[in-house]
Amino acid sequence: MQVVNAVMMAQRLLKPRLATAGLVVDATAGNGQDTLFLAANTPAATVVWAFDIQSQALTNTKELLAKYEVAAKVHLVLDSHAHITRYIKQPVDAAMFNLGYLPGGDHKLSTLPQTTIQAIAQTLQLLNTEGLMTIAAYPGYEQGRLELRELHQYLAAIDQKKFSVACWSMVNQTNFPPILYLIEKKRSG
Ligand SMILES: C[S@@+](CC[C@H](N)C(=O)[O-])C[C@H]1O[C@@H](n2cnc3c(N)ncnc32)[C@H](O)[C@@H]1O
Repeated sequence: MQVVNAVMMAQRLLKPRLATAGLVVDATAGNGQDTLFLAANTPAATVVWAFDIQSQALTNTKELLAKYEVAAKVHLVLDSHAHITRYIKQPVDAAMFNLGYLPGGDHKLSTLPQTTIQAIAQTLQLLNTEGLMTIAAYPGYEQGRLELRELHQYLAAIDQKKFSVACWSMVNQTNFPPILYLIEKKRSG
């Protein structure tokens, strides 16, 4: 199994935090791999929220969660992650954003800069102290390149007194490999 890629790095970085997490979010459920990762690596009482704008994505996610018997702890929401605060009022311990389009699905139903940034801003408001957020961005297609450019500008301007924002990328890969961002909410004072 390949372990050096953006998605695997996101999982490795998040995993230690999941052991004590009360509430975690998958902002882009897709085919459910990240939702399954969150559900399978958190305590039984942890609440997992997963969002997607495509019903097919949520159907795929639901089937995967049922197969691994972790569906009971997951709320699946057919809505944009830009509305995250309509659903979640409690502190978020970990959140995953895996941007782009549904693998094998319609490329036009890709994440978009404006709603992605809205969703990240809302999740930052909800993020618990020492909570972690990962964002995997895909500049390998035109829309993804535009999204990455706006996203990077937004993330680079986040107040460093409140959050640490890091970036991880492959350096020997051609064709615009994925970029992983990691955001941690600092302890105040
Ligand atoms: C790369 S896929 C996610 C992969 C997924 N996490 C997995 O493990 O299979 C990106 C997903 O984002 C979804 N998406 C696009 N715009 C969205 C939005 N505004 N809110 C929530 N999901 C969105 C797409 O429908 C697609 O399923």
